[in-house]
Amino acid sequence: MYEHDVIVVGAGGAGLRAAIAAHEEGADVAIVSKLHPVRSHTGAAEGGINAALREADSWEDHAYDTMKGSDYLADAPAAETLCKDSPKETIKLEHWGMAFSRDEDGRVSQRPFGGLSFPRTTYAGAETGHQLLHTMYEQLVKRGIKVYDEWHVTQLAVTNEEKPEDRTCHGIVAYDVQSGKVEGFHARNGVIIATGGLGQAYDHTTNAVSNTGDGVAMAYRAGVPMEDMEFIQFHPTTLPSTGVLISEGVRGEGGILYNEEGERFMFEYGYANNAGELASRDVVSRAELTEVNEGRGIEDEYVHLDMRHLGTERILDRLENILHLAEDFEGVDGLVEPMPVKPGQHYAMGGIETDENGETCITGLYAAGECACASVHGGNRLGGNALPELIVFGKRAGHHAAGKEMDDAKITTGKVGDYEEAEIESPVPLGESGLGGDVAADGGAAAATTGSELVQQFVDEERETIEALLEKDEGIQHAEIRERVQKSMTQNVNVFREEEGLKQALRDIREARELYLDVFVADKSRTFNTDLLQTLETRNILDIAEGITLGALARNEFRGAHWRKEYQERRDEEWLKHTLLSWNDGEPELWYKPVILEGENKTYEPKVRSY
Ligand code: FUM
Repeated sequence: MYEHDVIVVGAGGAGLRAAIAAHEEGADVAIVSKLHPVRSHTGAAEGGINAALREADSWEDHAYDTMKGSDYLADAPAAETLCKDSPKETIKLEHWGMAFSRDEDGRVSQRPFGGLSFPRTTYAGAETGHQLLHTMYEQLVKRGIKVYDEWHVTQLAVTNEEKPEDRTCHGIVAYDVQSGKVEGFHARNGVIIATGGLGQAYDHTTNAVSNTGDGVAMAYRAGVPMEDMEFIQFHPTTLPSTGVLISEGVRGEGGILYNEEGERFMFEYGYANNAGELASRDVVSRAELTEVNEGRGIEDEYVHLDMRHLGTERILDRLENILHLAEDFEGVDGLVEPMPVKPGQHYAMGGIETDENGETCITGLYAAGECACASVHGGNRLGGNALPELIVFGKRAGHHAAGKEMDDAKITTGKVGDYEEAEIESPVPLGESGLGGDVAADGGAAAATTGSELVQQFVDEERETIEALLEKDEGIQHAEIRERVQKSMTQNVNVFREEEGLKQALRDIREARELYLDVFVADKSRTFNTDLLQTLETRNILDIAEGITLGALARNEFRGAHWRKEYQERRDEEWLKHTLLSWNDGEPELWYKPVILEGENKTYEPKVRSY
């Protein structure tokens, strides 16, 4: 058994920042990650970091844009924390040596991004995430922070009290990809989940194959609610054949969207008469798909993004990476022809319910970054608000887990205060079919007396589960199950949603869960067994996909990225509330808690959201 004060699961931007922060507080901290840190998906982030750095800008304006962008479903204390802390955290990155793009006068450059009232997106060409990740990795190495990379975390070791709010997390269980061994990690102070996105619930996504929502699913099964899962961001400019991201930075620099008729449809058809291509992402994605649905798409599938008029010099200076992506993945030369683009899954606004200090309702369990929902982004995230989220909330979670005194959180977690229970309407039974038929990790093991004993019980269980999977000689392979779910999610739980499609997705997920009872791993290797790992990930995808779809079915209104055919209006009188799903004896339970619109100095009154 390994032992540390703080264990961070995941080594992307949030995980690295959390580990550095915990180390700053004197904690013995270690990262456990299925990938080497510099292979984390943060490295694929292109556009930038929103930070109010200029005199003419302010954190208050950034907060206003964020609340409006969220369609008034972000919690103001979280959004304001992001906007207040982002400037100093961004400058810290600069001091750590991050290679930001710069203006002639030497200042860090900023450019316009969707939904922003000021050009406040700092960037490093179109490879901001890559630069950020490497800068933070250097800091990690400098501090000698221990990284267990290529260790796949499979379970959280959490006690089994009836109410999740009474439980404690004592560590994790992880599978060493190199040796094939399952080991325990006892966390003396706390575990921070920073496992990133869940895009692999869809078949057209900008996310890496590693983004399987592991942290969200593990926390959910341990008793932490999943919050606002229905809010999935579909980025307007992804390459049609692969889902590879073409940065919003292209539109920030002046790139233009055209339909098949050569019309600049954002203005021509009045989708966003002021901001045009730089409306928020939900607005642009719906506009593109409307063009396609009304017969003005190219090859009935996509639209064109043109940056040729920016000129070679500017493109090479600020968007060079985009040229390579378009050429390598779509065979298109962005200097001489427009690039084909269509909406693709990009980001999860929802995730593990936390407060603004990263704490969940389970003692000793924290989350930060995309896997967490504080909630900063509400119904729609603004481009350029994800990277500051990693550094701001990664740091706060790291400090808190290491024992630093924090201001009391204004956001509550778990079933406390003013919450409302609700019925789930599903055409099929919901919840876990489980590995080998058993319901794992529903609130944890019982009889342990110490934290490390508890972790050991989880290790023993997980070893049995993995042995059973490897011993089974026939059945269905995970890839078939995963593909069915991904296709159904893309078909039914996409930009445009309707009741029957959502119900169909639930039926498909049910069928996939039943197939999963018969899953088997064809590769029997003990080392580097990706077949086994992906089988474990597929189980997480099932829980995640069900959460997204249930939230989407329950929320009968149109807000942010969540559009419903039957409900074409935002319904503030009923829906200024977060959707929460809790795991109870293997089944999801639905409940709601009110959104917090009261900020430090003002209340963000919901307004009509136009761009
Ligand atoms: O378009 C982009 O470069 C993505 C940025 C983001 O998701 O924040």
